[in-house]
Amino acid sequence: MDSFNKIGIIGAMEVEIEVLLKNIEYLKSVKYGMFEFFQGLFAGKELVIVKSGAGKVNSSSCAQMLIDKYDIDCIINTGIAGGISENLNVCDLVISKEVTYHDVNPIFMKDFFPFKESFEADLKLVYLAIKAVEGIDDRTYKYFSGRIVSGDKFVSAMNDKLKIVERYDPLCVEMEGASIGHVCYLNRVPFVVIRSISDGADDQAEETYKKFERRAAEQSSNIILEMIKLI
Ligand code: ADE
Repeated sequence: MDSFNKIGIIGAMEVEIEVLLKNIEYLKSVKYGMFEFFQGLFAGKELVIVKSGAGKVNSSSCAQMLIDKYDIDCIINTGIAGGISENLNVCDLVISKEVTYHDVNPIFMKDFFPFKESFEADLKLVYLAIKAVEGIDDRTYKYFSGRIVSGDKFVSAMNDKLKIVERYDPLCVEMEGASIGHVCYLNRVPFVVIRSISDGADDQAEETYKKFERRAAEQSSNIILEMIKLI
């Protein structure tokens, strides 16, 4: 599997890219607009790592810049998420099969350009992510692969969570995966979203998030490093 030689990685926040930056053989960093792109080597692959900031506009602008300025073969979005599925516990891992927005009308998405209700992750990248997680001997958490939804909101109320369950039935919720997947679809760039659960997207979400944010973010980055070793 040698088609992914130059890999773009997007994390929304500093804590979501720190472990990656520590592990690469650093080459250089370049600023385009307000985004700083870190180029480096890891396991014989060229990586371009960037912090997008939170939300759909920041992450889509960042993904487009990454595609335009670097000739990347794929994009991996790493980070944390609020667990929606009852099966998920804090620090469990979610690998996207498809991504969509929970704050955009699906009919609008389907009836207008680009005529899609959701964006499918690349099967090779999903397979690599699953292989990477399954290869971790002392793993203490579960992993799932399925639908991830994104929106411009930190979901921290049971009412909001229940509405998302009813309309989309996803595994987890975050704020960038669908917009990155959307940009990748428009540019025909393969992508996958990998997220570790930091909270339950419920009334306790803000406290739980504070407690588990770092551990979850680092875990997601570590899976990506294992994935890249397998490419
Ligand atoms: N990222 C991590 N937890 C989240 C939540 N509860 N809502 C949206 N994005 C998140």
